[in-house]
Amino acid sequence: MAKSPLRYIGALAVVAGVFVLSYIIPPPGPSVTQLATVKGVTDPDALSTQLISADDLPPEGTRSLFDHVVSQANGVPWPFEKLVETIQKLDTTGQAPVIVMLPQGRSLLKAQVNESHPRIVMAADFQTPNGGSALGMNTRGQLFLGFVENADEIEVLSYNEAAGRFEFQLVQDYSETGARKLVYAKRAVCTTCHQGGAPIFSQRPWAETNASEKTVEAIVNARKAKGLDTETYLGFPIRVGLGVPERFDELTDVGNFFAATQKLWLDACGDGAGGAQCRRQMLKLAVSYSADPGSFTPDTPMAQQLQGFQKVGLRDKQIAVPESDLSNRDPYAEAKTVREKVHAFFNPPHKHGEGAKSNEDLEAFDRLPKLPAVLDPLTQRPAKRQLKSTDVDGAYGVASLLTYSDVDTLIKASGGSVQSVHAAIDRAPAALFEAKPFVRVQMMQALLSPAVMPGVKASPRYAFLDTSEMSPPVSIGLPPLALAPESPLNDYQKYCFSCHRGNPQKRLNFMAGADETEVLAHLKKKTEVREALDWDRYLGTDKASKLMPPTDSAQYRLMSAEVKRDPKVLERMKAVVPSLFDF
Ligand code: HEC
Ligand code: HEC
Repeated sequence: MAKSPLRYIGALAVVAGVFVLSYIIPPPGPSVTQLATVKGVTDPDALSTQLISADDLPPEGTRSLFDHVVSQANGVPWPFEKLVETIQKLDTTGQAPVIVMLPQGRSLLKAQVNESHPRIVMAADFQTPNGGSALGMNTRGQLFLGFVENADEIEVLSYNEAAGRFEFQLVQDYSETGARKLVYAKRAVCTTCHQGGAPIFSQRPWAETNASEKTVEAIVNARKAKGLDTETYLGFPIRVGLGVPERFDELTDVGNFFAATQKLWLDACGDGAGGAQCRRQMLKLAVSYSADPGSFTPDTPMAQQLQGFQKVGLRDKQIAVPESDLSNRDPYAEAKTVREKVHAFFNPPHKHGEGAKSNEDLEAFDRLPKLPAVLDPLTQRPAKRQLKSTDVDGAYGVASLLTYSDVDTLIKASGGSVQSVHAAIDRAPAALFEAKPFVRVQMMQALLSPAVMPGVKASPRYAFLDTSEMSPPVSIGLPPLALAPESPLNDYQKYCFSCHRGNPQKRLNFMAGADETEVLAHLKKKTEVREALDWDRYLGTDKASKLMPPTDSAQYRLMSAEVKRDPKVLERMKAVVPSLFDF
């Protein structure tokens, strides 16, 4: 009996249906909530995994570069332009940091940005020279910000020198009179996309950035429609050349390689005396490479020696260099293939304001339409490279943790040549090369000591390592302070908390505390508060600069208005803090 043609048609329809559905329904990607619970692909037995912390808070006695910078600035400067300026001022050449805008990005806060208020990302790009008695800074690949004005939030990714890892932080409620809370984020959330525990960025031609003509046009049109400045946003140029995202990309690659460098330093060399010998050799090669990258080759006897040591340390294992590059994405391009068109039809772009309003709002993020897997930063990226014991990339990595000035300083202090630096490294105590993360500053200080370099009187200081004057690091997610309506702290909350609660500098953190009793106890000990509030006595005198809030702040404007309305407010606030004579 002949088969009914209807059955063929039915079967065809099913096949066609499945075909169409496979276009419509994107493969279900993992959610950020799920991914945050997945352990990374790092080797759990590796030395680096044991020695480099994966906790949210930095290891005791260590802090992020950002913490050091803002602590020395007496708190996170406001507004964002001033924060960028603070970083720029650290650069002895005064050059502006690298700044890129992304109106349609792929970050966790992507739904809070738009064409009129794009996301701004910043990368510091300078090294400062070593002085006679102090080491300069290395910020290249070590200090990044992501600012979303509509979310009042700054994301911070900066290197923790002493711990050999990047720290993920947020400045929450970053607004003129907001709490401006500097917290350590949940690392596992950030590393769902920042998979190497390090910075990431798209590949050329960076179509989603303001180096792309279409993106600039979209920003300019949106801002024009709202009557906003079309040349600059927050004082930063809206139109930049391709060199700008290119440099940003390079700096994220440099940063990304730091994570691999610590693995090479620790895991490629291994434990014990052999490991120490290997690390000594790696440092010597790093100096050779830095001093003359052009003529460096991996086939010199010295490089072969390193390979030999690594063969023992690493055996036939490999070390994964995380992939920091995301595929280029052009949010303004017409969908070209049928698949892209169908996908775009069923996955309309998110509307502004939907999705996560802060980095704590993961469920809202997960409800947003998914990006195609190739473009999605959440998709697990295979390693950029797998390094073997025959690769000498550890030397390049260590070289990029040092500054140009470091190598000069070492050459001068040791006797004038790369060979004399090698000899000094050979003289350095073995303890320096034990299995610990490579810490540039500690290594430089140890090498530049009278014991190793006979001509040196004292090791150089470094201004961004000591944490003794800093307040303790704060984790994300602590409940906000709940004050009773008649609490004596209400005025302090309005006019002072932005700058004195969670201030990274210990001296200025005198309104810290988990609850009202704790805050009151701290505040009462800060007798200087009475002076700071003695407006009647000091206004117009040379002590006026000691009055609080600072006269250029919004809090001062608010408080002045209140003092006019109710002159007793100052007395009421002072009464909270006993004077010295009350004790
Ligand atoms: C959903 C993916 C995703 C998550 C989760 C994520 N980021 Fe990012 N982040 C990105 C992407 C993509 C970029 C680069 C392009 C951009 O900014 O849009 C980026 C860039 C950054 C930058 C600028 C430097 C760089 O790497 O390019 C900082 C700083 C940053 N993120 C911090 C954080 C912090 C802190 C967290 C955790 C609270 C976090 N990010 C979580 C996707 C993510
Ligand atoms: C906009 C930020 C800001 C606000 C708001 C602010 N302060 Fe300050 N405050 C600072 C800074 C910055 C310093 C450090 C000044 C310095 O040392 O040069 C400081 C210093 C002080 C000091 C001296 C601390 C010391 O150990 O030297 C006191 C006391 C003080 N503030 C009290 C207050 C009080 C009370 C309020 C609210 C009425 C307030 N501040 C509001 C930024 C702020």
